[in-house]
Amino acid sequence: MMKRAAAQAALDHIELGDIVGVGTGSTANLFIELLAGIKGKIDGTVASSIESERRLRELNIPVFDLNRTGPLPIYVDGADEATVNRHLIKGGGGALTREKIVAAASKKFVCIVDESKIVDVLGAFPLPVEVIPLARSQIAREIISMGGLPEIRAGFTTDNGNEILDVRNLDLIDPPDVEGQLNDIAGVVTNGIFARRPADIVIVGRADNVEQL
Ligand code: 5RP
Repeated sequence: MMKRAAAQAALDHIELGDIVGVGTGSTANLFIELLAGIKGKIDGTVASSIESERRLRELNIPVFDLNRTGPLPIYVDGADEATVNRHLIKGGGGALTREKIVAAASKKFVCIVDESKIVDVLGAFPLPVEVIPLARSQIAREIISMGGLPEIRAGFTTDNGNEILDVRNLDLIDPPDVEGQLNDIAGVVTNGIFARRPADIVIVGRADNVEQL
């Protein structure tokens, strides 16, 4: 399994005594299972979602509050799209804000994906934008004026009590620029472009090997 191969290769980046930032999603879940096998080597984890925290605790892996740990040596998480420049779209699972916080706090961000996630240009995957509910319609109008087509993620509330707009049709040729523009809209909590703080390593699981970008 390609996702599992990428998750397995991420273990090589973990050092004795690390507190490991842990992402969210099906690839991160495989990483959590594998992490259980080396839990004696690490001091604990910081989780990027309530669901990942639950899975970590179920496996008796300690989970700490980021406010207590301070900066982390490493963060391991999946992505919805990744380029060779290690720019990402994340947030398909809706955990983008906590993921961006943990990535920002981490010295090394190791992104684990299967080969289907590698793209030339970001944007085929609808871009998740976490919004304060009161600002939803105002933000949607601003995004439309940028050329985007926002759609509310129906029936979904983030771990932070907010909503998600999934945005198609934005021109993402300059990801750091669009990341900043969207985050400048009042009421946007954050968006799923990870380009200003890209991944440091993208581990790509393929049918017969893994590649590191
Ligand atoms: C969750 C994320 C995930 O990393 C992303 O959706 C990839 O998920 P999966 O590993 O299930 O393909 O950003 O918010």
